[in-house]
Amino acid sequence: MIKETGGPVILIAEDDELSRRNLADLLEQWGYRVDAVTDGREAMDAAVANHYDLVITDLRMPRVDGLGLLRFLKEMNPDFLVIVVTGYGTVPSAVEAMRMGAFDYVTKPLREDLVELAVQRALSYGKLREENIALRDHLREKYDFGNMIGYSDPMKKVFEMIEKVSSTDSTVIIYGESGTGKELVAKAVHFNSERKNQPLIPVNCGAIPEDLLESELFGHEKGAFTGAIRTKLGRFELAQGGTIFLDEIGDMSPALQVKLLRVIQERNFERIGGLKTINADVRIIAATHQDLERAVEEKRFREDLFYRINVIPIHMPPLRERGPDIAILANHFLRKFNKSKKKNVTELDQGAMKHLMSYSWPGNVRELENLVEMLVVVKGSGRIEVSDLPDKIVKSQSDPVLTSLEFPENGFDFNEKIESVEREYLLKALEKSGGIKNQAAKLLKLNRTTLVEKLKRFNIRGGN
Ligand SMILES: Nc1ncnc2c1ncn2[C@@H]1O[C@H](COP(=O)(O)OP(=O)(O)OP(=O)(O)O)[C@@H](O)[C@H]1O
Ligand SMILES: [Mg+2]
Repeated sequence: MIKETGGPVILIAEDDELSRRNLADLLEQWGYRVDAVTDGREAMDAAVANHYDLVITDLRMPRVDGLGLLRFLKEMNPDFLVIVVTGYGTVPSAVEAMRMGAFDYVTKPLREDLVELAVQRALSYGKLREENIALRDHLREKYDFGNMIGYSDPMKKVFEMIEKVSSTDSTVIIYGESGTGKELVAKAVHFNSERKNQPLIPVNCGAIPEDLLESELFGHEKGAFTGAIRTKLGRFELAQGGTIFLDEIGDMSPALQVKLLRVIQERNFERIGGLKTINADVRIIAATHQDLERAVEEKRFREDLFYRINVIPIHMPPLRERGPDIAILANHFLRKFNKSKKKNVTELDQGAMKHLMSYSWPGNVRELENLVEMLVVVKGSGRIEVSDLPDKIVKSQSDPVLTSLEFPENGFDFNEKIESVEREYLLKALEKSGGIKNQAAKLLKLNRTTLVEKLKRFNIRGGN
């Protein structure tokens, strides 16, 4: 039989030479790689020096016996997989071995089929466990990114970007629809950067009234304007040494865009009404749901500012493009709200999950989070079924045309598209009704005259 290099490696500890050779031959025939030693002491040395997927050990051996070896291995790594071989008079020890964490035992004289079964079971158990461990590590890694969950390919890319940009001081801009997690990304970048012990100061450029925004950003001196009764530090000053998060930067007024550009270029600013120039040691992270390039084209956003801000773009994928993440996030929110609302909703059943997976999620992760909160609160306990879901989620799925809609990168001619879809359906209806307009009209729930008008418009010649 072919020896598989790279396959599992098994260590045999057995003092009787014939038994050792027979067992080694068998395992090799099955394609495993084998090391064989003659007592527990040697086995210990070998286990320290090499990696083994499985150890098969006799119980009665000189120097260190099987139980001694088992204890040693388990101390070294509790996950060590060990099968013990018991002969006459060592059955009680086999029981003891199982208690100490042996995976299995086989009795002498060895029966090939039973040995094979035990080995296969042990190795596949080990493999499963390995995968579980990998999953756990993966989770831990993701939690480092501020509780951001994501296993889908587009989210993996986002995580990679976060990792890369965190160690730098570069300006980052996060693009994405509402609710896709832009703020979480900003936090992840900051808290994985060297500035993590300094403040992260958010500014919602869209929500602060225009005439206050300048003072919010740069602060003001006492008496700088009516109402400025004391000196106030702006967000740039508060963020010293840390990061400023300019949320919804696309909504900034033209006048403020100029001022921001100046700070970014010169790395300093003044408080309103102040004479002192303040150095700005601040990293900038911006976010927007807008297409800034288009905003530049439409002259709503300064081109020079755009190039200063658009240094490292991170694009957040909409939830509907994250496939498996929808289910994982739904379950994550289920656990979260069960806990915080002290409810006991056990699960989303398969049917319900299917609908969640195919819904379009215009509000993205936030919409999903809100929905699960509502479901947990309203349902309270038991499991969530399709009938618990709001209509908009259940209904949206039934139309395959809508779920297969594609949106080309560079946009498309809306009117042309709609017309070609209309035309296509008219032709299909005629085809189905064998050219009979009355029937075609019925299929399309149109009245006959409307249908006829449309056919005329599209130059389609029907039957009668
Ligand atoms: N990957 C994720 N894992 C877990 N929770 C997430 C994830 N993405 C977003 N959320 C949650 O969804 C909600 C919306 O996220 P966030 O506020 O970061 O989105 P946003 O893109 O900034 O939205 P908006 O454009 O509306 O400001 C938050 O409650 C956030 O905790
Ligand atoms: Mg946000």
